[in-house]
Amino acid sequence: MKLVILGFTGDLTRRLLVPALLRLLARGEVKDLEVLGLGAEDLGEEEILDRLEAFLKGLPGAELSAWPHLRWRTRYRQAGLTPEGLRRALQGLEGDAVFYLALPPALFAQAAEALGALGLAEEKTGFRRLVVEKPFGTDLASARALNAALHRHFREDQIYRMDHFLGKWATTNLLATRFANRFLEPVWRNCHVAWVEITYAETLGLEGRARYYDKAGALRDMLQNHLMQLFALMAMEPPARLSAESLRARKVEILRAVRPIPEGAKGFAARGQYQGYRDEEGIPKTSRTETYAALKLFVDDWRFQGVPFYLRSGKRLTEDVGYVALALRPAPSGCFGEAEPGYLVFWLKPGVGLYLTLYGQSLEKGGLEPHVLRYRPGREPEASAYEELLLDVIRGNLSHFPSEEEVEAAWAIVDPVLKTWQEGEPEVYPRGTDGPRSAEEILEPGHRWLDLGRMARGWR
Ligand code: BG6
Repeated sequence: MKLVILGFTGDLTRRLLVPALLRLLARGEVKDLEVLGLGAEDLGEEEILDRLEAFLKGLPGAELSAWPHLRWRTRYRQAGLTPEGLRRALQGLEGDAVFYLALPPALFAQAAEALGALGLAEEKTGFRRLVVEKPFGTDLASARALNAALHRHFREDQIYRMDHFLGKWATTNLLATRFANRFLEPVWRNCHVAWVEITYAETLGLEGRARYYDKAGALRDMLQNHLMQLFALMAMEPPARLSAESLRARKVEILRAVRPIPEGAKGFAARGQYQGYRDEEGIPKTSRTETYAALKLFVDDWRFQGVPFYLRSGKRLTEDVGYVALALRPAPSGCFGEAEPGYLVFWLKPGVGLYLTLYGQSLEKGGLEPHVLRYRPGREPEASAYEELLLDVIRGNLSHFPSEEEVEAAWAIVDPVLKTWQEGEPEVYPRGTDGPRSAEEILEPGHRWLDLGRMARGWR
């Protein structure tokens, strides 16, 4: 099989794709792989590969044992993203091939068009697959246009839209836990669940991505894609099979059942910007980009009617912690008095695992106290999501890739918020906190965000 990486000299290739490939090769999961790297840089193959090697040697945790093999199987060619530019580089390409667009998003459509114009989407001598990185569009209209552009030459089942959260162990484990334990099924609904919180908090800032980030903001960067996917997996009906077809159908169904966020988004969305964001290199002094976004979603269906799903993510917060938490309704305050909601939590980071709080008798005080059941198998290795997803692409498994309809349905949910946020300013929040206070205002009475510090300590 040939893996053609367009954007071979970019950061994504060296930081995520190549390390993931090295691990797959070392594990013996991929055989007969040839890599053809294409890039804009007019340098010799030796020089490009030397540079990559030097980078990998400095990358913590890189699996270097397979590097000599991969280097031997990798070719580099300079190529522009037009049919003329690609013709020479891809001449004679036969057999199974994956085209990986590790490119800036503005070039996705152009690259797919050039490949298609050369007839490379046609599966005459083997399969042809196209991998598209995120972000997939910047709103509903642009996502539709991009889907239409890709479909000029590629069928939907040839297109793999990357959302690395779907390759995380924690995400697949969430699905496994939900559907491999029958007793959870009757609990997983509005009579037992009071609300659901999906949080992904980062202490990191821009990491040299000012140009991209200032155009995107937290809502586009994290909520529309990653957190919305987690939401769909939590809220959807059980699929009869874990096939791509069933999973995608269930996710689309639930995304389309989300109650439209009203105009103005008051009480449904909150945004913040960390203090000092406008002083970061490459950020305009007047930037209104949000570095924190929170949303409240309701699904009008049988299972979760009346249960709010709270989604939030932000940069420069107090902890690197991510989780999905189901707040469980307390028992009626009869003989045991007032119980707080218990929680079922799936951690995504700092490590993976889960915990469940059940209320029980306190040993000392005689009253009720939370009893915590905890499972913490460890941390997920850095590039492991890419590793899993690349393997899926190679094996032709679309289960962990959002479909055209899902992507559009997710944009349809956030579009009204994006429109509203064209006006006004995000609330400034101090670095190292849980985010802006206005996030509290979207909570229903009696509901609360979990404390980030406690959640991170809870895992440790
Ligand atoms: C990316 C976002 O998709 O996900 C980044 O563009 C974010 O801004 C990252 O930091 C978070 O994912 P992870 O797996 O690196 O924690």
